[in-house]
Amino acid sequence: MNRLSRRLQKMIQVGYWPGFIIGMYPSHFAYKPIEVDFRRTWQHVKELNLYAHIPFCKWSCSFCTFFKVVKDDEEYYRRYMQRLNEEFIFYNTFFEEKVNIKSICFGGGTPNTVSVSDYEKFFDTLVKSNVSLDKDLEPSMEISPEIITKEYISDLSKIGIKRLSLGVQSLKGELRKGVNRDETLDILGVIQSIRDNGLNVNIDLINGIIGQDNDSFMETLKEVVAFGPETISIYPLSGKKSSMFKTSSAIMTTKEKYQLYELYYDYLIHNGYDCESHVKFIKKNQNSTHQQKIYEYLGTETLGIGSGSRSYSNLIHYGTSSWEDAKLVKKAIEDYMTKDFRELSWYGFEMNEEENKRRTIVYAWFLGVLDTAAYYQRYHSSPYEDFPEEFEALIHNDLVYTEGDKMHLTTKGRKYTDLAGTIFWSKGIHEMFETVHYA
Ligand SMILES: C[S@@+](CC[C@H](N)C(=O)[O-])C[C@H]1O[C@@H](n2cnc3c(N)ncnc32)[C@H](O)[C@@H]1O
Ligand code: SF4
Repeated sequence: MNRLSRRLQKMIQVGYWPGFIIGMYPSHFAYKPIEVDFRRTWQHVKELNLYAHIPFCKWSCSFCTFFKVVKDDEEYYRRYMQRLNEEFIFYNTFFEEKVNIKSICFGGGTPNTVSVSDYEKFFDTLVKSNVSLDKDLEPSMEISPEIITKEYISDLSKIGIKRLSLGVQSLKGELRKGVNRDETLDILGVIQSIRDNGLNVNIDLINGIIGQDNDSFMETLKEVVAFGPETISIYPLSGKKSSMFKTSSAIMTTKEKYQLYELYYDYLIHNGYDCESHVKFIKKNQNSTHQQKIYEYLGTETLGIGSGSRSYSNLIHYGTSSWEDAKLVKKAIEDYMTKDFRELSWYGFEMNEEENKRRTIVYAWFLGVLDTAAYYQRYHSSPYEDFPEEFEALIHNDLVYTEGDKMHLTTKGRKYTDLAGTIFWSKGIHEMFETVHYA
């Protein structure tokens, strides 16, 4: 057993989980102030995921470390949406060929704070730009179900939104109240209105929300499955409250969250869902085509617009500010509203071939399978020869098996997806992670 195998074995034994920072590679802790050459980055792009970030919320949930501000100011929202339009027009000047938009996601914060007419204007801008909309495009929006009305849903459907992702987190009133969410949410009514308008549905839940145990999570999950959403996303609680150690009886340890993962994975697999990625389950025989993250995992570049978004090209990853510092978030939004886009404080990471190779493999584990032939075609080398110690560690710990050109995660590997990914981080990324987390 090599050194890395032993390290991986130890991480599994103790239930180590580095947190949701692993949702992308390299994660934002590795970002440093950076100059962005917008023309060089986007001039040759042929297809894109488009992510538009709306950073406003009507309240703050106690678990949330996202880039957002609590604000209730319609005039401010309107001006922000105007800037969002201007930012897309700014990027459009760099596209040399018509760019096929494969996916659109309005993420947050809470995009349903903003009026539908502002989204309508945004679509008008898109239609007039040097882009085409993919035939399978299913524009999607993240929403807080507590503050959405029937009229709003109907208006969204009229402007072409086809999927709503609902931040539900838990359906238990006392748990919702404990994290500052409305305990009287009428989720059935919201889902009914969405279905009446023919839209698809994703539901977000949290594994390990404060006060939760296995039973309360599984009760919520069973209710959610009964609604039949096309996809269910389940995020392990991350942030300062996520720990290997029992810091409070109300907060699950990372090991307990891994155990709960086994329970809900098994339940969903036997109740009409397939595992689509490490945090997402997809209903069998459904018709949703919104695949932003999947496209990203398979190599499509993502253009992020809006303060708080991130862009991922093959050359550079970048965004504004840090997510975790509320003062920096406020300043970043203020700058976004007033400054030239070139003059914003950009933070990012220059990609190179080695980091792209590592990213391809980390993301393959999110999907559960590495296509070694596609890897060879892209990089002209074998992943096994590029990273022999890492693959040996996965095999020794029973996290993978091979079938022809494909290497798949085993059921155990699926449970420890994030650890399988972590061992492919470069030395530089590991060092930056340690500097940020153990300083
Ligand atoms: C932008 S929010 C979704 C829309 C809306 N803001 C809401 O919460 O209803 C994105 C999702 O990230 C997840 N999330 C936020 N903070 C988290 C944390 N600390 N740990 C795990 N998941 C988290 C939640 O499931 C949330 O629904
Ligand atoms: S979970 Fe959603 S509603 Fe709550 S603070 Fe975060 S972004 Fe806002």
